[in-house]
Amino acid sequence: MSELVTYSRDGDIGVITVNHPPVNALSVAVRQGLKDCAEALENDPKAKAGILICEGRTFIAGADITEFGKVQRGPTFHQALNILEGLKKPVVAAIHGTALGGGLETALCCHYRCAVPSAQVGLPEVKLGLLPGAGGTQRLPRLVGVPIALDMITTGEPIPAAQAQKLGVIDKVIEGDLRAGAIAFAKQLVQEKKPLRKVRDLEDKIKPLRGNKQIFDDYRKSMAHRARGFEAPYAIVDCIDAAVNMPFDQGIAFEQKGIATLMAGLQSQAQRYMFFAEREAAKIPDVPKDTPVAKVKRAAVLGAGTMGGGIAMNFANAGIPVYLLDTAKEQLDRGVDIIRKNYTNTMQKGRLTQAELDRRMALITPTLDEKVMGEADFVVEAVFEEMGLKKEVFAKLDRICRKDAIMATNTSTLNVDEIAAATSRPDKVIGTHFFSPANVMRLVEVVRGRKSSKETIATAMALSKTLGKIGVLVGVCDGFVGNRILHQRNREANFLLEEGALPEQVDKVLFDFGLPMGPFAMGDMAGLDVSWRIRKGQAASRPKDERYSTLADQVCEMGRYGQKTGAGWFKYEGGSRTPVPDPLITKLIEVESKRLGIARRKITDEEIIARLIYPMINEGAKILQEGMALRASDIDVIWVYGYGWPKYRGGPMFYGDSIGLNNVYTAMKKFEGEFGKSFAPAPLLEKLAKAGKTFQSHAAGA
Ligand code: 3HC
Ligand code: NAI
Repeated sequence: MSELVTYSRDGDIGVITVNHPPVNALSVAVRQGLKDCAEALENDPKAKAGILICEGRTFIAGADITEFGKVQRGPTFHQALNILEGLKKPVVAAIHGTALGGGLETALCCHYRCAVPSAQVGLPEVKLGLLPGAGGTQRLPRLVGVPIALDMITTGEPIPAAQAQKLGVIDKVIEGDLRAGAIAFAKQLVQEKKPLRKVRDLEDKIKPLRGNKQIFDDYRKSMAHRARGFEAPYAIVDCIDAAVNMPFDQGIAFEQKGIATLMAGLQSQAQRYMFFAEREAAKIPDVPKDTPVAKVKRAAVLGAGTMGGGIAMNFANAGIPVYLLDTAKEQLDRGVDIIRKNYTNTMQKGRLTQAELDRRMALITPTLDEKVMGEADFVVEAVFEEMGLKKEVFAKLDRICRKDAIMATNTSTLNVDEIAAATSRPDKVIGTHFFSPANVMRLVEVVRGRKSSKETIATAMALSKTLGKIGVLVGVCDGFVGNRILHQRNREANFLLEEGALPEQVDKVLFDFGLPMGPFAMGDMAGLDVSWRIRKGQAASRPKDERYSTLADQVCEMGRYGQKTGAGWFKYEGGSRTPVPDPLITKLIEVESKRLGIARRKITDEEIIARLIYPMINEGAKILQEGMALRASDIDVIWVYGYGWPKYRGGPMFYGDSIGLNNVYTAMKKFEGEFGKSFAPAPLLEKLAKAGKTFQSHAAGA
């Protein structure tokens, strides 16, 4: 019998215990153990009923994702779980922590389910580009009905125990000791001679919908926006349709076929890669896990503008009191008004209660008094992007802040080391580059200064997690990692316009690729004047022989700064945020092509992808070589969570691997020939391409 799953008895109740840290994943050994212990329970003459319970922090959190894509050994999920469901004695699943995926599917094969109040249950397979493959799509609709099952399985969001009880997923919430409570529940079932309730046999919730295809067509339409580009949500709807319209065993066979197809596809590979990439990003080789982390009990944010307000909301959302400082009452009031408006919008969408809104607002203390910064454990500076001002602010922070406080800058373009040098304690200075809107976007680039201490780094990374963000460590370089790569793409996009494309064409290709929007709509949204100002500052240092497009400058010279002025690359009519192609811009571009002596030609969609995305991959290779990112997967996490790169394509570096680095290298070589040295393939790209390797194999040391 497996050591990971054991059988024992408590009076007349058999107890099956899973103990497979960290999350009791259903590995081959656990499946074997479950099967053996279910048989042991059946064959134990003294056991009248059984419970299934887990040690450690959680109930079974799903299949073992590391086994996916490999040859399956041992009993299949169905072989293990069918034995459980087929037992002649009632079995109760006793849930704590999270019963997810194959974990919940295991519980659904038990005859009854109980859980502690803090437990959560869900089928998150969709987030891995999969569908529940151990009967979840067939059993859950039988238990909760079709509409709820559709929502739960296509979003993958878990639900808390109380809601799960209301919906019928669990039968009892146990206050106090779970093991004792579950045993008592099992005894009660025996005493009351309750039937062996097999979810597979429940019909009342699905029968009335048999033959009704409309409900599924409507659902497919309703999820079109959130599921755009993803295969798994649609395969899930098909499976739930099968649950309603096919006999149980046929439905299971349909589900198995569905998961096998998804498992073999590139989307799931990419999404499974992202699952581990996100967790890998938290690991920093020279900052060990046991590095002391300062407790952030109170924070301060300097600057109540676009970013400062959003950052202050992040602290409040996490329950951390935060001071919000600005130089003038008017700015402060404006900032606080925007925060309140944001929370009110969330409340109106039903995602926040009035009481919670009030609680969060009360955690944010607006003030003009700089002295309060002396109370903060962690300060984030988000004032205007000017080096002189940042240095002045950090010198002031150095005077006011406690010696152990950490001082972070939200700068997006300035040198963190230079800012740190304005203080007497550069070891306590770090960059925390939030992305706009800061209360929404999940990425924080944690910018490691030359002198940032390990404790400072560990604290900033841990704080990112506390704030519900994904922190990725990057080095000090122009644009850090995300924007440095973005710059490559945007530069190429402008060249494409000169050669024959139009903004609406370029944007459509990238939207269809899966990004939330293309470079031109994105520029209009962010404000074209911001990068115009930066370009003007860099004009003197730009090499004369480097290709440079003046198109964006010309758009700004017309006073078109994007959405905020009602026009940019596109026009925005009547305050709408929908970009509308503008003949004026078409004309401007055509005149520019003529001025440059370029004969405009048809640019294909494939060329747009290659021209915009391959230079991003190339820049990623340079970033890796310079050590500005620790691993290719960190770059991918940055692009997925900071820029909305489609998860099902796994980030630009994974995408490069999937299309073959040799293809990227060959294309870059061609661009170099056509457009000059700045397109030269990075040495790392060349090395990997010539060796037939990938960024992933490089990271694995192969
Ligand atoms: N398989 C393998 N490893 C897993 C795993 C799984 N299902 N779930 C978590 N892990 C690993 C993580 O990679 C991490 O490893 P590391 O310490 O080496 O980085 C470790 O367990 C701890 O995980 P977290 O850092 O995520 O721990 P948290 O406490 O923050 O979260 C959790 C716990 C909520 C369970 C979260 O890990 C999670 O969401 N896990 C995935 C759940 C899931 O997707 N289940 C469905 C799997 S697919 C399936 O079941 C198919 C079936 O239908 C046939
Ligand atoms: P903003 O102009 O909206 O806000 C800046 C605020 O700082 C203003 O309210 C101003 O009154 C205040 N301020 C100026 N001097 C101050 C001082 N000495 N003390 C306290 N407050 C002071 O600017 P935004 O966009 O919020 O940018 C802030 C920082 O965040 C910049 O460093 C910027 O580069 C960075 N950033 C901006 C992003 C964006 O999309 N806007 C994205 C990521 C980073």
